[in-house]
Amino acid sequence: MPGKSVVILISGSGSNLQAIIDASKTDASINIVGVLSNRADAYGLQRATDAQIPTAVIDHTLYSDRLSFDQAMMAQIDAWNPDLVVLAGFMRILTSEFVSHYEGRLINIHPSLLPKFKGTQTHARALEAGESEHGCTVHYVTEELDAGAPIIQAATPIVAADTVESLIDKVHKLEHQIYPLAVSWICSERLKSRDDGIALDDELLGPSGFRFIG
Ligand code: GRF
Repeated sequence: MPGKSVVILISGSGSNLQAIIDASKTDASINIVGVLSNRADAYGLQRATDAQIPTAVIDHTLYSDRLSFDQAMMAQIDAWNPDLVVLAGFMRILTSEFVSHYEGRLINIHPSLLPKFKGTQTHARALEAGESEHGCTVHYVTEELDAGAPIIQAATPIVAADTVESLIDKVHKLEHQIYPLAVSWICSERLKSRDDGIALDDELLGPSGFRFIG
């Protein structure tokens, strides 16, 4: 089976991008055809260039409104003709026009065990709430923020010594394991979005997606 074309959107360091690049080196189903950043100084652009992946920068500050920025991104992304669009630390709110254009082939990683802690500051909020565990979720993107169907989740216990920094670090390590896995499942067509839910190898996943045990 030929590889699927994947476009990855970033705004910063791109450590999740790096994890997917690394996976693509041994998984022929993942063909990263472009990396797009809204910031010219995003370190992830260097990671892509080092891996000989085409890059583009579309600076959101040069656009007067969200829709014209999203339209410029859509023109660039569509020129790469992707089967899958991966948000990997992309820090802009997307318009409904953008989301509906890519719906069903647009995924994100969120640093919480969704549906808990949608939005920002998830690690601090999990600590403050006295949660016994925290983690991350790869999910399809829909118009409602962080509310699309989960594909895979990974959790880590919260211990007394944990701080925001230690939790960020622990969750990041899990992100680097589950994001490439989710991308691989989609690109190899093991994961399918069906009318009755999301199925992996023809088995329906539960409402939180696959539970990853590291
Ligand atoms: C990750 O923590 C991810 O959960 C969030 O943005 C961060 C991106 O980090 N959506 P990196 O750029 O992949 O290192």
